[in-house]
Amino acid sequence: MQWRAVAVIAASVPTADRGECPEVETLAALHCGMRQPTIGLLHPGAMGAAVGRVLRARGLTVLWSSHGRSGQSRARAGAAGLTDAGSAAELFAASDIVLSICPPHAALQVAMLAAGFDGIYVDANAVAPATARRIAREVGSAAMVDGGILGPPPDGHRDTRLYLSGDRAAEVGALFRETAVDARVVEGGPGAASAVKMAYAAWTKGSAALLLTARELAAREGVEEILVTDWEQFSPEVLDRWRRAANSATAKGWRWVGEMDEIAASMAAQDLPDGFHLAAAEVYRERGLG
Ligand SMILES: NC(=O)c1ccc[n+]([C@@H]2O[C@H](COP(=O)([O-])OP(=O)(O)OC[C@H]3O[C@@H](n4cnc5c(N)ncnc54)[C@H](OP(=O)(O)O)[C@@H]3O)[C@@H](O)[C@H]2O)c1
Repeated sequence: MQWRAVAVIAASVPTADRGECPEVETLAALHCGMRQPTIGLLHPGAMGAAVGRVLRARGLTVLWSSHGRSGQSRARAGAAGLTDAGSAAELFAASDIVLSICPPHAALQVAMLAAGFDGIYVDANAVAPATARRIAREVGSAAMVDGGILGPPPDGHRDTRLYLSGDRAAEVGALFRETAVDARVVEGGPGAASAVKMAYAAWTKGSAALLLTARELAAREGVEEILVTDWEQFSPEVLDRWRRAANSATAKGWRWVGEMDEIAASMAAQDLPDGFHLAAAEVYRERGLG
């Protein structure tokens, strides 16, 4: 692996009143003295809507596409101040930068909608590095920026980290300068940002699945009460962790199945055991859908 340390974003978001324009042909240069970039967001889930709200607070126009989406997405988009572009095609036609923030299992399908788009396409989903590189090929004429989001949706209290990689990663990072989204560029091209996300979530969600399974074993063997008492006495933090894991798995387990599959694929691609996360996918499949 050749990926080097991350660099904190230093570029600035394009503004309409800048005195000096950059000479290089970046989005900032294209829009210098003209207008701010229009952002397309697919789709306003818990994370997407919160990221959209951050960009709206910077004065940017953020479009979303209501076609096929639920009432919950509509409500989140409305609350975040996003503008409905109608179809995905209309969104791409009107956007300079499109952010894909959706369930990992849908990332490739959403990327297919970018056919003919020649702006910047950001896939910020929890996918394997190989999936991110495939998306880079699929988006064709667009400039692909790979993204990986760590932490909770930005809410003004807790920070969210957005890793970005790809030739135009700094331009995307500039959109978030001095916001609750801590954007950082990772060198290494598409796949590098996703690799950070995969390694991070391999531990957080992988270990959560293990904890759920450990207690389930005790329950099925009729010794759950003894295990819980021992957790309380010897490692109370484990019990607290179990509670959080159980709540999250019930609420988001359906989405984490795809994420665990992507982590397993990431492991296999580096000749590492993929069984941990295939098993974690199984745990979340039962928890989230059962
Ligand atoms: N939430 C977090 O705390 C968090 C933290 C770190 C990273 N992330 C990343 O953010 C991404 C999205 O997570 P989220 O929490 O925002 O998910 P979410 O709340 O479940 O929202 C998912 C959004 O995608 C749409 N969607 C669902 N199924 C789809 C499909 N098959 N095709 C296209 N769109 C679909 C949903 O629309 P409808 O419901 O209207 O169908 C919704 O707008 C994931 O890649 C995740 O790894 C999230």
